[in-house]
Amino acid sequence: MKFGYFDDLRKEYVINTPRTPYPWINYLGNQGFFSLISNTAGGYSFYKDARLRRITRYRYNNVPLDMGGRYFYINDNGTIWNPGWSPVKTELDEYECRHGMGYTIIKGKKNGLKAEVTFFVPQNYDGEVQQVVLTNEGTEAKSFSIFSIAEWCLWDAQDDCTNFQRNFSTGRVEIEGSTIYHVTEYRDRRNHYAFYTVNDEIDGYDTDRDSFLGSIYNGWDNPETVKADKPSNSFADGWSPVASHYKKVTLAPGESKTLIYILGYAENPQDKKFASEKPANLLTRETWVLNKEKAYAMIDKYNTPEKVAAGLEELRTTWDKLLSIFKVDTPDDKVNRMVNIWNQYQCMVTFNLSRSASYFESGIGRGMGFRDSNQDILGFVHQIPERARERLIDIASTQLSDGGCYHQYQPLTKKGNADIGGDFSDDPLWMILSVAAYIKETGDWGILDANVPFDDDPEGKHTMLEHLDVSFYHIVNNLGPHGLPLAMRADWNDCINLSCFSDTPGESFQTYTNPKFKAEGGYSKVAESAFVAALFTYTGPAYVGILEHLGKADEAAKAQAEIDKMKKNTMESAFDGDWFIRAYDANGEKMGSKECEEGKIFIEPQGFAVMSEIGKDVGADIKTLNSIDKYLNCEFGLVLNNPAYTKYYIQYGEISTYPGGYKENAGIFTHNNAWIICAEAYAGRGDKAFEYYSKIAPAFTEETSDIHKTEPYVYGQMIGGKDAKNFGQGKNSWLTGTAAWNMVAISQYILGVKPEFDGLRVDPSIPAAWDGFAATRQFRGDTYEITIKNPDHVNKGVKSLTVDGAAVEGCIVPVAGDGKTHKVEVVLG
Ligand code: BGC
Ligand code: NOJ
Repeated sequence: MKFGYFDDLRKEYVINTPRTPYPWINYLGNQGFFSLISNTAGGYSFYKDARLRRITRYRYNNVPLDMGGRYFYINDNGTIWNPGWSPVKTELDEYECRHGMGYTIIKGKKNGLKAEVTFFVPQNYDGEVQQVVLTNEGTEAKSFSIFSIAEWCLWDAQDDCTNFQRNFSTGRVEIEGSTIYHVTEYRDRRNHYAFYTVNDEIDGYDTDRDSFLGSIYNGWDNPETVKADKPSNSFADGWSPVASHYKKVTLAPGESKTLIYILGYAENPQDKKFASEKPANLLTRETWVLNKEKAYAMIDKYNTPEKVAAGLEELRTTWDKLLSIFKVDTPDDKVNRMVNIWNQYQCMVTFNLSRSASYFESGIGRGMGFRDSNQDILGFVHQIPERARERLIDIASTQLSDGGCYHQYQPLTKKGNADIGGDFSDDPLWMILSVAAYIKETGDWGILDANVPFDDDPEGKHTMLEHLDVSFYHIVNNLGPHGLPLAMRADWNDCINLSCFSDTPGESFQTYTNPKFKAEGGYSKVAESAFVAALFTYTGPAYVGILEHLGKADEAAKAQAEIDKMKKNTMESAFDGDWFIRAYDANGEKMGSKECEEGKIFIEPQGFAVMSEIGKDVGADIKTLNSIDKYLNCEFGLVLNNPAYTKYYIQYGEISTYPGGYKENAGIFTHNNAWIICAEAYAGRGDKAFEYYSKIAPAFTEETSDIHKTEPYVYGQMIGGKDAKNFGQGKNSWLTGTAAWNMVAISQYILGVKPEFDGLRVDPSIPAAWDGFAATRQFRGDTYEITIKNPDHVNKGVKSLTVDGAAVEGCIVPVAGDGKTHKVEVVLG
């Protein structure tokens, strides 16, 4: 069952009922100011850091689920409704929500009155613009009123939802004309404020939540002021400050009125915090006056429909440009809309927000993840390489000089989080992969010379290349008894915790270390990860390629020898006959082996092992891929492990705490499905690769949205696996490495357009049924118009490749570097 449809021309998903199986959200903003907005206008805004600069309040895990946002209430002679249906939930005559690239349009119609609200964050602007167009579609004049509402968060979202003894007494506002300012803590230690304004005179306002609601017993669905059609003109003093504008409107038949609301954020320099004069119309209880210059300028920027239209146009053009860098035309519409629109869009969102704020991430927990952000770059780097470069330098600066990494860092401070710490065994490798991806995309070898400090040597002069060296050797220097990388606190799978042995509730599996490993440096020196081994052999060649390019032949050979050794060790100690084991636990026992009672096979090491060609000479790759198909494949994707754990294995940790079929215990973790899609494509099995791709790609799951629940336009982290009661049900949508990896899987492995150090590889691995496809790729200043023909209906194999008519040996299109458009023709066979 569907709850809407894709409008590919406008690059929108159109939702035609407010009753989606879960709030279906969108993100506004892509620089500093961000908003989350659901299809019923729920959500919130923040500036840069979802925890430390939360602008509006949101209550997670609420009942009903999505309650709180920026709402407009219309009181049409006693009939009270919201354009987005919620929170009042009066049945609408018409409803539609269009989530587009950085904007959302919500339309509601009731009793002949139409309200269309366009929400967006303009480019280079720290505010959300909300344009409300009210149209009387009836045959008689209509008089009604409209109320706006936004509830302020007292800045630190964590403190805001816990420290009530203090917070209930700190809230402060100022009101000037139609603008309500939020200035809590501004007098003392803050230099930032927020405001909510409308471009018209108002007939009243409220700034105190309980006065707006009329009673502490009322909810957002039942505000007394709206019911009474009478604002209380309240002035907040502590408790919960809000901003609500009240406006009376009369419309002749066919007449429209546009109101533009802006929810903005601004910072003042320390010496310009206060205004010297108090305007006559200013309402305040303070002796000081906020300097509002920045707000005035922001308000002026979008106070007419023409200016709003220009802002929207600028946003559209920005996105059209971003999405023109890589475009495909395949025989499958669903592939086209994923690649050309939604997957790339999601990659931008994950790049911006990492795992901080979604409807499953509260914005107060994690900062930016080291491994997460590095992987996000893989899907994003072609869009804005300069921002990827900056991010790489930020991330690398949190690394330690021995190659170890802080697992997370805060975007505002750009410092590693000491409370989470480090020792996640996979972290350094993702850095090699992302820096290599950046160089492959841009040809900017200069990044290797960039001065990038280490966290433990902030003043030292170090280069990015040194970061890659220590990353590579951090693995080599931390091997266990079988010559495989130590698992440490965890690898990619945060829930395999081999040094934990936790038997006490409340201990964090990720940060708790059993005292028995204290003497050994914090984690077992026996537990090893076959996944990190395979990731190392997959990633290592990029490092070798970099050294070769720099003319460091000896160092390259030395690194290559380590890769070869790791492959040998993996084949000798981690190949289980038909697949690769997952790990050796701290007792030296195999995990993810035929010998195990449960969890006999895991997905994670397999894809990278296949792509590293470990044991290819003895058929290990095909055996492994066939085992995945046999044991992990199911209707909705590939489960992470099988059989699911049915009891607690103290030696494995968190993974065995989840009910079977959920999360890391045999859930369908879409992130690592991509690694298998890549591996199948790599092995030349384009049909299998495509089968797996189409099981999880959102556009393909649209038809079963009732089962899948989450948004059909973006990936979620997890889908209930075959052992789960809710088989096929998606969770944790939006902020997941799945976005980047599936972008890589479809674009670089299936469609096979893959940047390399020395050019653009074109080597597709597609469904045999396809006659071919076309792609446009901007690459290092040139544009390549690529046509793939598949006359023999094969999966893979480049029979011929020509660039502007001239034959090229192999399948790498050399960099032309002339800024022109080039025609690339590839015939498969
Ligand atoms: C989740 C993981 C997550 C980790 C760190 C675990 O409980 O299952 O998916 O990566 O916490 O937040
Ligand atoms: C979510 C984390 O963000 C990601 O880094 C991790 O790899 C997966 N969980 C798997 O545990």
